[in-house]
Amino acid sequence: MAGCLTNLLQRPPPGRSAMIELKSVTKTYPGGHSALKEVDLEVAEGTTLALLGPSGGGKTTSLRLINRLIEPTSGRVLVGGQPVDRTDPVELRRGIGYVVQGAGLFPHRTARENAETVPSLLGWPEPRRRERTRELFDLMGLDFDSIGDRYPNQLSGGQQQRVGLARALAADPPVVLLDEPYGAVDPITRRQLQRHFIGLKATLGKTMVLVTHDIDEALRLADRIAILVDGRVAQVGTPDEIRDSPNSGLIAALLGEEGNA
Ligand SMILES: Nc1ncnc2c1ncn2[C@@H]1O[C@H](COP(=O)(O)OP(=O)(O)O)[C@@H](O)[C@H]1O
Ligand SMILES: [Mg+2]
Repeated sequence: MAGCLTNLLQRPPPGRSAMIELKSVTKTYPGGHSALKEVDLEVAEGTTLALLGPSGGGKTTSLRLINRLIEPTSGRVLVGGQPVDRTDPVELRRGIGYVVQGAGLFPHRTARENAETVPSLLGWPEPRRRERTRELFDLMGLDFDSIGDRYPNQLSGGQQQRVGLARALAADPPVVLLDEPYGAVDPITRRQLQRHFIGLKATLGKTMVLVTHDIDEALRLADRIAILVDGRVAQVGTPDEIRDSPNSGLIAALLGEEGNA
Protein backbone atom coordinates (compact mmCIF):
# COMPACT_ATOMS: atom_id res chain seq x y z
CA MET A 1 0.00 0.00 0.00
CA ALA A 2 2.74 2.43 0.99
CA GLY A 3 4.49 1.49 -2.27
CA CYS A 4 1.37 2.28 -4.34
CA LEU A 5 0.98 5.61 -2.64
CA THR A 6 4.61 6.50 -3.29
CA ASN A 7 4.20 5.62 -6.98
CA LEU A 8 1.09 7.73 -7.23
CA LEU A 9 2.76 10.73 -5.64
CA GLN A 10 5.75 10.41 -7.96
CA ARG A 11 3.58 11.16 -10.97
CA PRO A 12 3.61 14.81 -12.07
CA PRO A 13 0.38 16.77 -11.74
CA PRO A 14 -2.13 15.97 -14.51
CA GLY A 15 -1.91 18.06 -17.68
CA ARG A 16 1.79 18.73 -17.39
CA SER A 17 4.35 16.62 -19.17
CA ALA A 18 7.50 15.43 -17.46
CA MET A 19 10.50 17.58 -18.39
CA ILE A 20 13.00 15.52 -16.38
CA GLU A 21 12.75 11.79 -15.73
CA LEU A 22 14.99 9.38 -13.87
CA LYS A 23 13.90 5.80 -14.52
CA SER A 24 15.25 3.17 -12.17
CA VAL A 25 18.61 4.92 -12.00
CA THR A 26 21.49 3.35 -10.13
CA LYS A 27 24.86 5.06 -9.85
CA THR A 28 27.75 3.08 -8.45
CA TYR A 29 31.00 5.03 -8.25
CA PRO A 30 34.35 3.38 -8.95
CA GLY A 31 35.24 1.69 -5.69
CA GLY A 32 31.78 0.18 -5.39
CA HIS A 33 29.75 2.77 -3.47
CA SER A 34 26.17 2.99 -4.76
CA ALA A 35 25.21 6.65 -4.44
CA LEU A 36 21.78 6.03 -6.04
CA LYS A 37 19.79 2.82 -5.98
CA GLU A 38 16.99 2.37 -8.53
CA VAL A 39 15.75 5.90 -8.21
CA ASP A 40 12.57 6.97 -10.05
CA LEU A 41 11.82 10.67 -10.25
CA GLU A 42 9.82 12.99 -12.49
CA VAL A 43 9.76 16.76 -12.66
CA ALA A 44 6.79 18.24 -14.51
CA GLU A 45 7.46 21.05 -16.93
CA GLY A 46 7.49 24.47 -15.29
CA THR A 47 7.65 23.13 -11.74
CA THR A 48 10.31 23.07 -9.03
CA LEU A 49 11.30 19.84 -7.34
CA ALA A 50 13.37 20.03 -4.16
CA LEU A 51 15.77 17.15 -3.57
CA LEU A 52 16.03 17.06 0.18
CA GLY A 53 18.01 14.86 2.49
CA PRO A 54 21.05 14.39 4.65
CA SER A 55 24.57 14.82 3.32
CA GLY A 56 25.74 11.86 1.24
CA GLY A 57 22.19 10.89 0.24
CA GLY A 58 22.83 11.24 -3.51
CA LYS A 59 21.46 14.73 -4.23
CA THR A 60 24.46 16.13 -6.13
CA THR A 61 24.86 12.83 -7.95
CA SER A 62 21.26 13.15 -9.20
CA LEU A 63 21.89 16.64 -10.59
CA ARG A 64 25.10 15.57 -12.31
CA LEU A 65 23.26 12.70 -13.99
CA ILE A 66 20.65 15.11 -15.36
CA ASN A 67 23.20 17.35 -17.10
CA ARG A 68 25.33 14.33 -17.94
CA LEU A 69 28.45 15.30 -16.06
CA ILE A 70 28.32 11.64 -15.00
CA GLU A 71 26.63 8.57 -16.51
CA PRO A 72 24.29 6.19 -14.68
CA THR A 73 25.46 2.64 -14.01
CA SER A 74 21.98 1.46 -14.99
CA GLY A 75 18.60 3.03 -15.71
CA ARG A 76 17.70 5.97 -17.90
CA VAL A 77 17.70 9.75 -17.65
CA LEU A 78 15.47 11.81 -19.95
CA VAL A 79 15.24 15.57 -20.41
CA GLY A 80 12.42 16.93 -22.54
CA GLY A 81 11.50 13.34 -23.40
CA GLN A 82 14.95 12.65 -24.89
CA PRO A 83 17.42 10.21 -23.34
CA VAL A 84 20.39 12.35 -22.29
CA ASP A 85 22.88 9.76 -23.55
CA ARG A 86 21.53 10.30 -27.05
CA THR A 87 21.78 14.10 -26.85
CA ASP A 88 25.01 15.93 -27.66
CA PRO A 89 26.42 16.93 -24.21
CA VAL A 90 27.18 20.49 -25.31
CA GLU A 91 23.67 20.91 -26.73
CA LEU A 92 22.18 19.33 -23.58
CA ARG A 93 24.03 21.66 -21.19
CA ARG A 94 23.09 24.69 -23.24
CA GLY A 95 19.49 23.89 -22.30
CA ILE A 96 20.29 23.34 -18.62
CA GLY A 97 21.44 26.14 -16.30
CA TYR A 98 23.55 24.91 -13.39
CA VAL A 99 24.09 26.75 -10.13
CA VAL A 100 26.78 24.92 -8.20
CA GLN A 101 27.26 24.80 -4.45
CA GLY A 102 28.69 28.06 -3.06
CA ALA A 103 28.02 30.05 -6.29
CA GLY A 104 31.24 28.74 -7.93
CA LEU A 105 32.03 31.98 -9.76
CA PHE A 106 35.28 32.16 -11.72
CA PRO A 107 37.47 34.24 -9.37
CA HIS A 108 39.45 36.00 -12.12
CA ARG A 109 36.39 37.10 -14.05
CA THR A 110 34.22 40.08 -13.13
CA ALA A 111 30.56 39.66 -12.22
CA ARG A 112 29.63 40.68 -15.74
CA GLU A 113 32.10 38.29 -17.37
CA ASN A 114 30.86 35.49 -15.14
CA ALA A 115 27.26 36.18 -16.17
CA GLU A 116 28.31 36.23 -19.83
CA THR A 117 30.07 32.86 -19.77
CA VAL A 118 27.52 31.00 -21.91
CA PRO A 119 26.69 33.91 -24.27
CA SER A 120 30.45 34.28 -24.89
CA LEU A 121 30.76 30.57 -25.67
CA LEU A 122 27.80 30.91 -28.01
CA GLY A 123 29.56 33.81 -29.78
CA TRP A 124 26.89 36.45 -29.10
CA PRO A 125 28.10 39.90 -30.19
CA GLU A 126 29.05 42.32 -27.41
CA PRO A 127 25.94 44.56 -27.55
CA ARG A 128 23.62 41.57 -27.27
CA ARG A 129 25.66 40.13 -24.38
CA ARG A 130 25.66 43.49 -22.60
CA GLU A 131 21.93 43.95 -23.04
CA ARG A 132 21.17 40.45 -21.76
CA THR A 133 23.44 40.92 -18.73
CA ARG A 134 21.78 44.22 -17.82
CA GLU A 135 18.38 42.57 -18.10
CA LEU A 136 19.49 39.64 -15.91
CA PHE A 137 21.10 41.88 -13.29
CA ASP A 138 17.81 43.79 -13.08
CA LEU A 139 15.95 40.52 -12.65
CA MET A 140 18.40 39.51 -9.91
CA GLY A 141 18.07 42.83 -8.11
CA LEU A 142 21.73 43.68 -8.81
CA ASP A 143 22.90 47.13 -9.88
CA PHE A 144 24.81 46.54 -13.11
CA ASP A 145 26.71 49.84 -13.02
CA SER A 146 28.13 49.36 -9.55
CA ILE A 147 28.55 45.58 -9.53
CA GLY A 148 29.25 44.55 -13.13
CA ASP A 149 32.99 45.21 -13.02
CA ARG A 150 33.66 43.79 -9.56
CA TYR A 151 35.42 40.49 -8.99
CA PRO A 152 33.72 37.79 -6.89
CA ASN A 153 35.84 38.56 -3.81
CA GLN A 154 34.47 42.12 -3.94
CA LEU A 155 30.89 40.88 -3.69
CA SER A 156 28.86 39.76 -0.67
CA GLY A 157 27.82 36.11 -0.46
CA GLY A 158 24.27 37.04 -1.46
CA GLN A 159 25.48 39.03 -4.47
CA GLN A 160 27.68 36.14 -5.55
CA GLN A 161 24.67 33.82 -5.43
CA ARG A 162 22.64 36.24 -7.55
CA VAL A 163 25.44 36.47 -10.12
CA GLY A 164 25.66 32.65 -10.14
CA LEU A 165 21.95 32.45 -10.91
CA ALA A 166 22.29 35.16 -13.59
CA ARG A 167 25.04 33.08 -15.19
CA ALA A 168 22.84 29.97 -15.15
CA LEU A 169 19.92 31.85 -16.75
CA ALA A 170 21.94 33.77 -19.37
CA ALA A 171 20.96 31.76 -22.44
CA ASP A 172 17.39 31.29 -21.13
CA PRO A 173 17.56 27.51 -20.62
CA PRO A 174 14.24 25.72 -19.99
CA VAL A 175 15.80 23.70 -17.14
CA VAL A 176 17.76 25.00 -14.14
CA LEU A 177 19.57 22.84 -11.57
CA LEU A 178 20.58 24.42 -8.27
CA ASP A 179 22.88 22.65 -5.82
CA GLU A 180 22.46 24.03 -2.29
CA PRO A 181 22.38 27.56 -3.71
CA TYR A 182 21.85 29.22 -0.33
CA GLY A 183 23.94 26.88 1.81
CA ALA A 184 26.84 29.28 2.31
CA VAL A 185 25.06 32.53 3.22
CA ASP A 186 23.88 33.88 6.57
CA PRO A 187 20.25 33.25 7.63
CA ILE A 188 19.00 36.78 6.89
CA THR A 189 20.50 36.82 3.39
CA ARG A 190 19.15 33.30 2.84
CA ARG A 191 15.61 34.50 3.61
CA GLN A 192 16.01 37.42 1.16
CA LEU A 193 17.31 35.12 -1.55
CA GLN A 194 14.51 32.64 -0.92
CA ARG A 195 11.88 35.38 -1.26
CA HIS A 196 13.56 36.51 -4.47
CA PHE A 197 13.55 32.92 -5.74
CA ILE A 198 9.80 32.55 -5.11
CA GLY A 199 9.16 35.66 -7.23
CA LEU A 200 11.50 34.47 -9.99
CA LYS A 201 9.90 31.05 -10.09
CA ALA A 202 6.53 32.58 -10.87
CA THR A 203 7.97 34.98 -13.47
CA LEU A 204 10.24 32.57 -15.33
CA GLY A 205 8.25 29.32 -15.33
CA LYS A 206 11.40 27.17 -15.58
CA THR A 207 11.62 23.51 -14.71
CA MET A 208 13.96 23.42 -11.71
CA VAL A 209 15.59 20.95 -9.39
CA LEU A 210 16.76 22.55 -6.16
CA VAL A 211 19.05 20.56 -3.89
CA THR A 212 18.92 21.42 -0.23
CA HIS A 213 19.44 19.81 3.16
CA ASP A 214 17.18 22.43 4.74
CA ILE A 215 13.61 21.15 5.07
CA ASP A 216 12.28 24.64 5.70
CA GLU A 217 13.80 25.80 2.40
CA ALA A 218 12.28 22.84 0.54
CA LEU A 219 8.84 23.49 2.06
CA ARG A 220 8.97 27.18 1.07
CA LEU A 221 10.44 26.98 -2.41
CA ALA A 222 9.35 23.73 -4.03
CA ASP A 223 6.17 22.55 -5.72
CA ARG A 224 7.14 18.99 -4.88
CA ILE A 225 9.75 17.48 -2.62
CA ALA A 226 11.66 14.22 -3.04
CA ILE A 227 13.47 13.03 0.05
CA LEU A 228 16.65 11.13 -0.73
CA VAL A 229 18.14 9.06 2.02
CA ASP A 230 21.12 6.82 1.43
CA GLY A 231 20.57 6.71 -2.33
CA ARG A 232 16.86 5.90 -2.21
CA VAL A 233 13.73 8.02 -2.53
CA ALA A 234 12.17 7.85 0.93
CA GLN A 235 9.13 9.98 0.03
CA VAL A 236 7.82 12.25 -2.73
CA GLY A 237 4.99 14.70 -2.35
CA THR A 238 3.87 18.29 -2.23
CA PRO A 239 5.10 20.39 0.70
CA ASP A 240 1.68 19.95 2.35
CA GLU A 241 1.77 16.18 1.91
CA ILE A 242 5.27 15.93 3.37
CA ARG A 243 4.38 18.22 6.27
CA ASP A 244 1.09 16.50 7.04
CA SER A 245 2.07 12.86 6.53
CA PRO A 246 5.80 12.25 6.80
CA ASN A 247 6.25 8.57 6.07
CA SER A 248 9.29 7.97 8.23
CA GLY A 249 10.67 8.84 11.62
CA LEU A 250 13.60 10.59 9.99
CA ILE A 251 11.36 12.98 8.06
CA ALA A 252 9.23 13.59 11.14
CA ALA A 253 12.42 14.36 13.07
CA LEU A 254 13.56 16.81 10.37
CA LEU A 255 10.16 18.50 10.51
CA GLY A 256 10.40 18.66 14.28
CA GLU A 257 13.72 20.47 14.03
CA GLU A 258 12.22 22.93 11.60
CA GLY A 259 9.32 23.55 13.98
CA ASN A 260 11.73 24.31 16.79
CA ALA A 261 14.06 26.49 14.72
N1 LIG B 1 33.20 10.92 -7.51
C1 LIG B 1 32.86 10.11 -6.50
N2 LIG B 1 33.52 8.94 -6.28
C2 LIG B 1 33.16 8.11 -5.27
N3 LIG B 1 32.14 8.34 -4.44
C3 LIG B 1 31.44 9.49 -4.61
C4 LIG B 1 31.75 10.43 -5.65
N4 LIG B 1 30.88 11.46 -5.58
C5 LIG B 1 30.06 11.18 -4.54
N5 LIG B 1 30.39 10.01 -3.96
C6 LIG B 1 29.71 9.36 -2.83
O1 LIG B 1 28.36 9.13 -3.19
C7 LIG B 1 27.47 9.43 -2.10
C8 LIG B 1 26.48 10.49 -2.53
O2 LIG B 1 27.17 11.71 -2.75
P1 LIG B 1 26.43 13.05 -3.19
O3 LIG B 1 25.59 12.77 -4.36
O4 LIG B 1 27.48 14.07 -3.34
O5 LIG B 1 25.51 13.33 -1.93
P2 LIG B 1 24.78 14.67 -1.43
O6 LIG B 1 24.87 15.69 -2.51
O7 LIG B 1 23.38 14.24 -1.12
O8 LIG B 1 25.49 15.09 -0.19
C9 LIG B 1 28.37 9.86 -0.94
O9 LIG B 1 28.58 8.72 -0.12
C10 LIG B 1 29.65 10.28 -1.61
O10 LIG B 1 30.75 10.09 -0.78
MG1 LIG C 1 25.80 17.58 -2.50
